[in-house]
Order: sequence, then C-alpha cells, then structure tokens
Amino acid sequence: MLIYKEARISGAWIWWFICTLLSLLLGVISETSRAKDIMTKYPLIDGHNDLAVPLRMYHKSKLSKLNMHNISKAATDITRLTAGHVGGQIFAAYVLCTAQDKDAVRLALEQIDVIRRMCTENKEMELVTTAEGMGTSTKIACLISIEGGHSIDSSLPTLRMFYLLGVRSMALTHNCNTPWAETSSSLYSNYQQKNNSLTDFGKAVVSEMNRLGMLVDLSHSSWGTARAVLKHSAAPVIFSHSSAYAICNNTRNVPDDLLLLLKENGGLIMVNFYSNFVACSNNANVSILADHFDHIKLVIGAESIGIGADYDGDVSKYPELIEELISRNWTEEELAGVLRLNFLRVFRKVEKVRDGMVHNLPSEAEISLSEVNESCRAKLVPPGKTRGYMQEVKNFSENGNTPLMPVIALICFILVLIQLE
Ligand SMILES: *[C@@H]1O[C@H](CO)[C@@H](O)[C@H](O)[C@H]1NC(C)=O
Ligand SMILES: *[C@@H]1O[C@H](CO)[C@@H](O)[C@H](O)[C@H]1NC(C)=O
Ligand SMILES: *[C@@H]1O[C@H](CO)[C@@H](O)[C@H](O)[C@H]1NC(C)=O
Ligand SMILES: *[C@@H]1O[C@H](CO)[C@@H](O)[C@H](O)[C@H]1NC(C)=O
Ligand SMILES: *[C@@H]1O[C@H](CO)[C@@H](O)[C@H](O)[C@H]1NC(C)=O
Ligand SMILES: *[C@@H]1O[C@H](CO)[C@@H](O)[C@H](O)[C@H]1NC(C)=O
Ligand SMILES: *[C@@H]1O[C@H](CO)[C@@H](O)[C@H](O)[C@H]1NC(C)=O
Ligand SMILES: [Zn+2]
Repeated sequence: MLIYKEARISGAWIWWFICTLLSLLLGVISETSRAKDIMTKYPLIDGHNDLAVPLRMYHKSKLSKLNMHNISKAATDITRLTAGHVGGQIFAAYVLCTAQDKDAVRLALEQIDVIRRMCTENKEMELVTTAEGMGTSTKIACLISIEGGHSIDSSLPTLRMFYLLGVRSMALTHNCNTPWAETSSSLYSNYQQKNNSLTDFGKAVVSEMNRLGMLVDLSHSSWGTARAVLKHSAAPVIFSHSSAYAICNNTRNVPDDLLLLLKENGGLIMVNFYSNFVACSNNANVSILADHFDHIKLVIGAESIGIGADYDGDVSKYPELIEELISRNWTEEELAGVLRLNFLRVFRKVEKVRDGMVHNLPSEAEISLSEVNESCRAKLVPPGKTRGYMQEVKNFSENGNTPLMPVIALICFILVLIQLE
C-alpha cells in the first residue's frame, strides 16, 4: 500500500511538473506572439541608426553595388528592419569629430545624400519630413538627423540649408565640443568653455531649430549643456539614443534630475541598446536593458520613453525587448507609446511650436570670430578693414582696380610740394 501511495504521489508530481512546464512554455509563446502583435499594430519608430557609416566605410556609399536587403558588415538592412517590425527610423548623418573645422559640412552633405538615396531608391522605404508623414507611412519611414553640431560650422544659414534637404533633427554635439555647446565626452579637448556650456550663439542655434521645427537632440551633450538647453528651448527635446545613468553610470546616460527636467519639458528619452551604456560592460542582456526602461518609467513615466537602439547588434531582435517588458507587466498602452506614439506626440509638438513662430524671420545671429577657429575660415575683408568675413577681399594691386591710386598719390605729392613752397 505504501509503495502504491508513493507511486501515486510521484505520479501527481510528474503531472504537476509537466503542467507547469507547459504553462511556462505557453506563457513564453504567448508573450512572443503578443509582442509581435503589438509591434504589428504599433511598428517601432527608432531614434538612432548609424547605417550610413558602414555604407561609407565598407562600401564607399556606392548603393548601386549593394543589395539593401542583405548588407554585410552592418547591423541593419531592409530584411532585418522588416523582421524587427521597424516602421520608422531616424538615420544619422554622422560626421567624425576630427572633421570639425575641416570638411565636416561636405561630409554631412554626403551622408545626407546617401540616406536620401537609400530611402528614395528602395520601394520598401520612404523619406519623410513631418510627423504626419512618419505617422501614416506604411513603409520604413526615414527621417534624417545630423549627428554633431560641428556639421553646421557655427552657421545658422548652413543649418537652414540642411533643413531644406530634409534634416529634421540635430544632435548638438558628438564627442567634441563645438564653439557653442559642450559634449559629455572627454575624447577631444578643443573649444572648452569656462562655465558656459551653451553660449549665446548656442542659444541662437536652439531658437533657430525651434523656429524651423527641428528636433533638438541632447544625446552626446554634456549634462550642463542639456540643462541649459532644457531651460532655453521653446519646444520639447529628445535624447535620441541615451539610457539611464542610475542603472549604468556612463556619462552618455541621463541622470535622474535631468530626467525630471526632461519630463517638465515634455521631451523624450529614447533608450540606447549599446552594451557599454546599458551594462557598463560588453555583456549586456535583455534583462538589464529592460531595467533601464523600468527605472525611467519609475522616475518620469512610460510616456516619456522611446527606443533609440544605436544598434551594433541585429535590428530584427527588437521583439525580444518587448517580450521582456510584457513579462514585466508593461501594458499595451505603455508599449504603444514607447514604440511610436510618444515620439510622434513630441514631433507634432515641435511642429506646433514652429507654427507658433511662423512670423519670426530667420535669425541673423552670427558667432563672433574670436569664438571660432579662424584657421579654417577664408578671411573676406572689405577694403580698409583687416577682420570680418562677409565681404570679398579685393587685392587692389593685383586686380588693378585702382588706376586712380597713383594719380591721387601724385596730386597729393604735388599739393604738398606747393604747400612747402
Ligand atoms: C546574405 O548574404 C550572405 C552572403 O553574402 C548569405 O550567406 C546570406 O544567406 C544572405 N542572407 C539573406 C537573408 O539573404
Ligand atoms: C564656475 O562656476 C562655479 C560655480 O558655479 C565656480 O565655483 C567656479 O569657480 C567657476 N569657474 C570659473 C572658471 O569661472
Ligand atoms: C560607476 O559604478 C561603478 C560600479 O558600479 C563604480 O566602481 C564607479 O566608481 C562608478 N563611477 C562613477 C563615476 O561614479
Ligand atoms: C544580465 O546581465 C546582468 C548584468 O550584466 C547580470 O547581472 C544578469 O545576471 C544577466 N542576466 C541574465 C539572465 O543573463
Ligand atoms: C505582474 O503582475 C502579476 C499579476 O498582477 C504579479 O503577480 C507579478 O508579480 C507582476 N510582475 C512584475 C514583474 O511586476
Ligand atoms: C584650429 O584648427 C587647426 C587646423 O585644424 C588645428 O590645428 C588647431 O588646433 C585648431 N585650434 C583650436 C583652438 O581648436
Ligand atoms: C595681392 O597681389 C599681389 C600681386 O599679385 C601679391 O603679391 C599679394 O600677395 C596679394 N595680396 C593678397 C593679400 O592676396
Ligand atoms: Zn551617437
């Protein structure tokens, strides 16, 4: 009897075990399919992708020689974007800091060119410039952003021309200071400002971006610059690819006090997946990544969060994060916001602020010559002046523009002689 009883108990245990295993398995399967359902309903708009960099670095931006559905040496191509349920992507026109005061403007133009080509020559992609376009696109909607304010070479007219090319977002700095804003990085030491992380010209840049309806992106900016911009900007701002400092104390991440200011501003933090920013090491996993989402939600709410993966992995893997957040009880409404609705809300607000400034004329603010590196600027001085750069230099002796000069000198000489008489 005893043996029989024991057998019955262990039989029950086996059934219990099988049952638990099955329900866990079903749970995982259902979370997987729920994640995919939610992402089908709310395709992701991602805040930061550097695809234009490997296109240049490994393929010389020769799109005609590339299969955009299968690009080697890049984390991103159309096949993987589609598998990852990406419906919108901010593509960065990134320019190395070493190009500052050299050919940064040309390089930015070339990166914009390759993004524009990629997004207009492939039927699965579409170039958009408005929140409306981004929200209604049924393709992979591309929005162009400039990564690194050094690409405008301290010139508001240059900023405006970038806008005309479709640029709708700019990170004020990359890993280098500009003459007017400060970076979070200590890689380069040029253009250090003393206690002024956003100069008067920097404020003019932000105001002009507000007037144009360009998203101000504070990823890579120093916290001081971020605070100054949050104080100055008339529109909400974004961190297009930054995570939570409280989870990983890298200066590229955002500390809680800054998160609170961001919430007040109505802006958005789009969480970065880069291992060193997520785990402060090179072995991040989806669990610690989700910790960043949980933390930011706790501090400022899910409605201030987006995704800006900055992928060095594989863009088809986004659903795994959504599964993890579902298992942590994130609601469909919260996830819909994180995936795309929060970004669209912020972009629409930026456009609304622009519409309210429609009568403002383009800013004619200029940076003073003493603030920039003159070695890379042609000196165009009007006759009789030695500095300034708004007028063409006239080399009188060379151009022969002053045939009267010797005559005047002669008359003057004669007059003096007469006086001496
Ligand atoms: C992409 O191309 C590589 C070779 O370049 C090939 O091995 C791979 O199967 C291709 N992948 C797809 C999804 O077509
Ligand atoms: C910068 O400001 C801090 C306090 O705001 C002050 O202690 C420090 O002396 C200032 N440094 C310079 C170089 O002005
Ligand atoms: C960052 O955190 C690590 C451990 O989590 C600690 O060793 C390090 O001192 C911290 N760095 C800063 C700047 O707080
Ligand atoms: C994920 O990474 C974190 C930090 O690197 C680690 O503490 C944790 O154990 C990892 N979790 C899993 C499931 O691997
Ligand atoms: C999710 O919600 C369930 C049911 O309310 C609860 O048992 C569980 O602890 C929650 N999990 C987390 C990670 O909050
Ligand atoms: C100015 O630019 C030149 C040439 O790129 C460089 O050598 C120099 O260090 C720069 N000066 C400053 C203050 O950045
Ligand atoms: C002006 O032209 C003369 C004669 O060609 C030349 O020697 C001089 O260097 C030029 N000056 C400038 C500032 O270009
Ligand atoms: Zn970046």
